[in-house]
Amino acid sequence: MTADPPRAEAVIDLGAIAANYERVSGAGVPVMGIVKADGYGHGAQQVARTLRGSGAQWLGVALLSEALELRAVGDRGNLLAWLWAPGDPGIMDCIATDVDLSVSCEQSLIDVVTAARGLGKPARIHIKVDTGLTRNGVPRSSWRSVFEAARVAQDQGHVQIVGIWSHLASADEPDDPVTDQQRTAFLEALNIAASIGVQPELRHLANSAAGLNRPDCTFDLVRSGIAIYGVTPGSGLGTAQFLGLRPAMTLRARLAHVKKIVVGTKVSYGGTWTADHPTAVGLVPVGYADGIPRAASNTAQVLINGRRCPVLGVIAMDQFVVDLGPDAGDHPGDEVLVFGSGDHGEPTAEDWAQWAGTIGYEIVTRIGPRVPRRYV
Ligand SMILES: Cc1ncc(COP(=O)(O)O)c(C=O)c1O
Repeated sequence: MTADPPRAEAVIDLGAIAANYERVSGAGVPVMGIVKADGYGHGAQQVARTLRGSGAQWLGVALLSEALELRAVGDRGNLLAWLWAPGDPGIMDCIATDVDLSVSCEQSLIDVVTAARGLGKPARIHIKVDTGLTRNGVPRSSWRSVFEAARVAQDQGHVQIVGIWSHLASADEPDDPVTDQQRTAFLEALNIAASIGVQPELRHLANSAAGLNRPDCTFDLVRSGIAIYGVTPGSGLGTAQFLGLRPAMTLRARLAHVKKIVVGTKVSYGGTWTADHPTAVGLVPVGYADGIPRAASNTAQVLINGRRCPVLGVIAMDQFVVDLGPDAGDHPGDEVLVFGSGDHGEPTAEDWAQWAGTIGYEIVTRIGPRVPRRYV
């Protein structure tokens, strides 16, 4: 690694993102790169540019504001946004800038048609059907009426129905029958739509997990997020390394202080760890305000000078303490690899997810704005 960060930094390997995009595109189905939540913490603009450069025809975000931020920095490609509350002020700007909008209920169709009428420009829409996730998406009882209303709006020139889509609940659990049930429901929705004369060019259902593992679910487009960032969609599918993905984010810090402690010394808030051997402890100046999960207190490890060092005691807002071992010298400023690719023996985001009882998605996405990003 190059120059020491002042305190901490997240190094984002855009080459890894390009390689992962190529990996998920390997099945031959076009891939929509998902760059919501600031590109899962990696930087939406930089990731978007990298993906477009790798040939991505489609990008996807959750929020209308996320889509408009990409438009504001010059992204002009196909872009889908899918989550808003009634009356979101971004609807008109999205239609005006050719952002595709998801319609997930009757009200969202009304919102879009109203905005399109006002603009005198048809909105590009993807109708989202709920096939079993029970999150957003038109419920089965309204599939027919929403398809019919959308077709009328299309005939009147207010919308162009570009896609029908849905989202899977458990594709990261290969043995879960829910994916088959959702696929069947999706086909049913497509049949109902076709019977009403709604046959859009794009049908999309798969996320990263299904894109890697369920060719029968990929239809016309795979929406891939976490795999592009080099993190496994779920341990049931194997590690990123097993899946041929390269983790793109490395979180580095520098030891702020080093001190010797004696047997019986308690460490950090609440004194939840007590030294049973004399040792040297190091202070790592990142904490839960930076996105380090407090739930990994007393469990996680970091890599310092080629050695795994356990986290001692509770992870605090700005800092945590690690055991450097009794023979460690007094070397504040030494590099701490909190997580990364694993290539140098450092933990991965997937390791931290296990230690914190969460998923790799959360580990990378929660790294906050206090941590500067550096792109390589
Ligand atoms: C609607 C939708 N599609 C696709 C994705 C991408 O999922 P993944 O990161 O598992 O590939 C997400 C992410 O949560 C999503 O909400």
